[in-house]
Amino acid sequence: MAVAELNSAFTKTHFHSSQLSFLSRSVPKHQHCDFPTLHRTQQHARISCSVTQNQVQAPAVQIQEPKSKSDCYGVFCLTYDLKAEEETKSWKKLINIAVSGAAGMISNHLLFKLASGEVFGPDQPIALKLLGSERSLQALEGVAMELEDSLFPLLREVSIGIDPYEVFQDAEWALLIGAKPRGPGMERADLLDINGQIFAEQGRALNAVASRNVKVIVVGNPCNTNALICMKNAPNIPAKNFHALTRLDENRAKCQLALKAGVFYDKVSNVTIWGNHSTTQVPDFLNAKIDGMPVIDVIKDRKWLEEEFTEKVQKRGGVLIQKWGRSSAASTAVSIVDAIRALITPTPKGDWFSTGVYTDGNPYGIAEGIVFSMPCRSNGDGDYVLVKDTEAELLAEKRCVAHLTGEGIAVCDLPGDTMLPGEM
Ligand code: LMR
Repeated sequence: MAVAELNSAFTKTHFHSSQLSFLSRSVPKHQHCDFPTLHRTQQHARISCSVTQNQVQAPAVQIQEPKSKSDCYGVFCLTYDLKAEEETKSWKKLINIAVSGAAGMISNHLLFKLASGEVFGPDQPIALKLLGSERSLQALEGVAMELEDSLFPLLREVSIGIDPYEVFQDAEWALLIGAKPRGPGMERADLLDINGQIFAEQGRALNAVASRNVKVIVVGNPCNTNALICMKNAPNIPAKNFHALTRLDENRAKCQLALKAGVFYDKVSNVTIWGNHSTTQVPDFLNAKIDGMPVIDVIKDRKWLEEEFTEKVQKRGGVLIQKWGRSSAASTAVSIVDAIRALITPTPKGDWFSTGVYTDGNPYGIAEGIVFSMPCRSNGDGDYVLVKDTEAELLAEKRCVAHLTGEGIAVCDLPGDTMLPGEM
């Protein structure tokens, strides 16, 4: 903890690091701390203040050494010697996670999950880089204070700011949540334009300062097109690193299928959300499974599947807004966690997950050049491949019947034995 030592005739006052941050807030435009870098081995930071009986002035800090972190917040300005700490010796290298819209409701659920270790694991220290707007900067300081007060061992750095070129520096994950919500009477085109500007700028910033392999998950709506805009403005980052969040829709679909079948959620797998995170999306029940069986063999009510189920998933977000008076926040945060975990852990054998990705080279005949939700698998390295089982199976079947289609000699190399829909 930093301790403020008051000069000669003045009273001795002790400041907590977060109190010092608070003081720093009275300085215009200072979202950064102006305190010396403190080493954990150092007991106290020496800060001199001029104080009269009734008036405490902002302390004049004697800089003992140059601050190494440009925009740290409160306790996170301290520099720790991780190698010297027994507990941290086995930890992985710290990763930088940037979050935009960091003072909003979704982030308020998400940040504490990230900091707790439940997303990246109990041996993965993280740095949070929080992007807000000028309007939300004070709230962002409140978020940083709550993160401080939560004493998360894995949370090693927190920085806040309003300039994406600063905040996205070296980001390895960028969770782009901040966007203007649609207001009354606002057309979709207006929203596309306003938010498009934001995501174009953030794409340029990522391109300029983020890690070359940053993984970007766009949450702010309309997230598919925002992801496309962001990607197109970041030509030095692989296009396949950009995702639009449709995991929330996948989770919603799983919930509805589980409820209808009377099973717990974990029995539902292979759910694909096709297309846009909007009411035109197609939640795919034909390829989905319950307890390893095709959904259509478990839920025989085809009318429900085709009409009620589909519409429920498509309109779930809207219904939630009617109930809450605002967009989903907690379940969105959970689905961001699921989306990240889907990329950093191997996909269970035979299963897949949905994410909105760039369509170039897709095996489904979907128009190229857009961001479209499709089934993907990951081996847990942060990357993914599109599920091509259906395409691979059809190509193999075609080779198998080449003698019947006039394409030469048949070669039968069918991948495993699969079933026709309806076969048990
Ligand atoms: C949701 O699906 O809950 C949100 O994307 C809805 C919205 O428009 O914010």
